[in-house]
Amino acid sequence: MSTVQDVLAFLHIHEDTYVSGQLIAQNLGISRSAIWKAIELLRDEGHSIDAVTNKGYRLMPNLDVLDKNRLETLLGGFPVHLFDTIDSTNRFAKQLAAEGSCHGTVVVSASQSQGRGRLGREFSSPKGGLYMSIILRPRCKTEEALLVTSAAAVAVARAVEKVCNLELGIKWVNDLFFRKRKVCGILTEGVIDFEAGVLSSLVVGIGLNYSTPSAAFEANLRSVVTSLYDGPSQVPPFLDANVLVAEIVRTVVSLSDLLPDRSFLQEYRDRSLVLGNTVSVVQAKKTKTALALEIDDDAHLVVEYGDGSIESLGTGEISI
Ligand code: BTN
Repeated sequence: MSTVQDVLAFLHIHEDTYVSGQLIAQNLGISRSAIWKAIELLRDEGHSIDAVTNKGYRLMPNLDVLDKNRLETLLGGFPVHLFDTIDSTNRFAKQLAAEGSCHGTVVVSASQSQGRGRLGREFSSPKGGLYMSIILRPRCKTEEALLVTSAAAVAVARAVEKVCNLELGIKWVNDLFFRKRKVCGILTEGVIDFEAGVLSSLVVGIGLNYSTPSAAFEANLRSVVTSLYDGPSQVPPFLDANVLVAEIVRTVVSLSDLLPDRSFLQEYRDRSLVLGNTVSVVQAKKTKTALALEIDDDAHLVVEYGDGSIESLGTGEISI
């Protein structure tokens, strides 16, 4: 084994305590400066190693790693299906929903090979992101169910603010932005019960770039997307990805339980990046400039075009 691996193995064995440089040096028969270099290399690789004067070094648990038991404990009852990689968590969750999985069931993956985006697009899903789909069986009218996506956008922003202390803005309909770039996309899909002819459940899919290094994004996306943290080594120590996922899921479920009340819409408006601004509305492959006037109680975006005409947009695409 190399010095770096020896140091890592030694820290692993003692991961419940701090070990001094002197103790490591004596046990491995290497110099203190070799240990220091090894620690720096291990940190560059993404290992979180705390150093405290007069106590030494300690390998911190890898809180980036998603853990099924931990997620289930944090979620206190909602079933969790966890994957290292999957084609699409939405595809799998829709299958589970059709088979009868309960309200609040969550599918989480550390990467996706065929992530689905809105309007039939692909959603790039490299490692470092948090990809999740939540099965909801909202007890509300179908029109109200359409608001789930907007509620989910508020839920993600609220959860990120609470757990990471970072502020996200919402670009109508359901993109979340961090420092002027897209950091999260949401795709809500319905599951139809064909025999009963009704919408039996919804699957809310959330793709959040959590600790994706910018190099992991495809070159054409790098100027328009970002991540909460630029690689695992930038994630603050003690921040646990499981806690963030659980907070997102809990908030999505609780807001979806309160849909008819619509009180979340005020927060949606407060976080809006479009209200009062000029936007480009893309419709039937044509782009028109408009002023974003209002987000109404159905989460429609009300815009005014240059000729004074007003339109209420229920779905679609705008750019800012
Ligand atoms: C968009 O921005 O166009 C929506 C992207 C939604 C991506 C998420 S990632 C988890 C879930 N599984 C998918 O295949 N898509 C959604």
